[in-house]
Amino acid sequence: FMKRRRSWNRYPPGPASFPFIGTMLQIDHNNPHLSFTQLCKKYGNIFSLQNCWNNVVVLNGFKVIKEALVDKSEDFADRPFFAVYTQLEYRKNHGLILAKYGPSWKEQKRFILSALKDFGVGKKTLEDLVTEEAEHLCSSFSSKEGRPFDPHHLLNNAVSNIICSITFGKCSLYKEQNFQTLLNLLEESKKEESGFLTQLLHAIPALLFIPGIMQKAFRHQKELFGLLCDLVKMHKETWLPSCKRGIVDAYLEEVEKRKNDENSSFSEENLTLIIGDLFAAGTETTTSTLRWGLLYMVLHSNVQSKVQEEIDKVIGKNRPPKMEDQAKMPYTRAVIHEIQRVGDIVPLGLPHMTYRDTEVQGFFIPKGTTIVPNLSSVLKDEAMWEKPHHFHPEHFLDDKGQFAKQTGFMPFSAGRRACPGEQLARTELFLFFSRLLQHFTFRIPENHPRPSNDGYFALTRTPYTYQIQALLR
Ligand code: HEM
Repeated sequence: FMKRRRSWNRYPPGPASFPFIGTMLQIDHNNPHLSFTQLCKKYGNIFSLQNCWNNVVVLNGFKVIKEALVDKSEDFADRPFFAVYTQLEYRKNHGLILAKYGPSWKEQKRFILSALKDFGVGKKTLEDLVTEEAEHLCSSFSSKEGRPFDPHHLLNNAVSNIICSITFGKCSLYKEQNFQTLLNLLEESKKEESGFLTQLLHAIPALLFIPGIMQKAFRHQKELFGLLCDLVKMHKETWLPSCKRGIVDAYLEEVEKRKNDENSSFSEENLTLIIGDLFAAGTETTTSTLRWGLLYMVLHSNVQSKVQEEIDKVIGKNRPPKMEDQAKMPYTRAVIHEIQRVGDIVPLGLPHMTYRDTEVQGFFIPKGTTIVPNLSSVLKDEAMWEKPHHFHPEHFLDDKGQFAKQTGFMPFSAGRRACPGEQLARTELFLFFSRLLQHFTFRIPENHPRPSNDGYFALTRTPYTYQIQALLR
């Protein structure tokens, strides 16, 4: 391997690699984005690492990431192969997030984008759904009667209910108990995916033959897919082709239509993984952004007041917000964008892999190299933002106070693999956030310490638990 690597001229530089473990001990796996910032200072915006036998190249800063993910989109559209998953029988298909770049991924992504539209994204149907859920959320906040509470659980329920309705339909078959189990398993599965043990197993799949290690590493994931399988089965048993209750029914119709096509990527097993992907990618991300949002509002009460002033002026105190209001609310839009930028909830995006030999900024990157797009380095790029490490909504306002788009705003990534849930997430963020601030003023409870604006990393970057008071306005 080292011989082959030496023969690559212009391969990106990086720290010295040790036998077997490569550079794994030189990265803080609990805060890899921070280690990358340090390595950037030493090796520049493109550097290489070695996870045991795997070549990894980390891309940093807007210029580099745009060249790779946008200008050379296809070269960087693949996903690394995780040998570990071949040992997990429920992972034999690839769903969408982990699917290799190719016809099957294209078919599934096209389906998801069009199914999201069919079930309301970008239309009034989704707005109505989120508005209704926002009402329940406000009632739950009101029931705290101004007492201190942690909003995490209530926000997570609200966001999950939306993805549940789109996926399973409103007249859902899942019972409250199933729903809570699903959310708990999602949380636990996410923890299983991050951290040193899983990284080690991904790098050395042979370790999976150690008795009991699979159960230790992936117990919750296995349970999660078991539950999703049961839900799909229940849907299938009650499925009427004339009535599509949600993405699951639309998918089952596709499985039926293509049952004689041996090249079809639609199957019930793949459906389970696709639903898992939608829940995993669509719940935690939006919930964390809203959690960052409320946190920044209590830490910056002047910003909160300005958002409320704009809401009162444009929407008033009673009518629920609509998406069309956004056009007249530049300050609120800027605040939501700034929450996403500073919250930086997917700091390292998802790993990509080169689909062919390619080049970035003159560096040679061979086919099959794992690529880490350090999105955090774009959202906090010192060459692009006036105050990269501070909460400063003015980043998204022009001299006249109008909303100003910024090219460095890339929380949903870019290129072929970009997030298909962006529009859904934007709708949820605007409608939930503005409805909450229309109803309540959020405060740090008396005698409570000021919450930290720091976050912790486990695939996503989330705030530490905090308590707030929601005071009726
Ligand atoms: C992928 C961010 C919400 C579904 C991604 C990626 C990022 C991201 C950074 C990686 C793209 C890449 O590989 O380059 C976010 C953020 C969200 C959000 C910040 C909310 C604030 C959602 C929602 C859904 C969703 C609501 C549900 C529909 C997905 C899927 C992928 C993905 C399926 C994989 C796409 C592929 O591999 O082709 N997202 N996301 N996301 N996201 Fe989201």
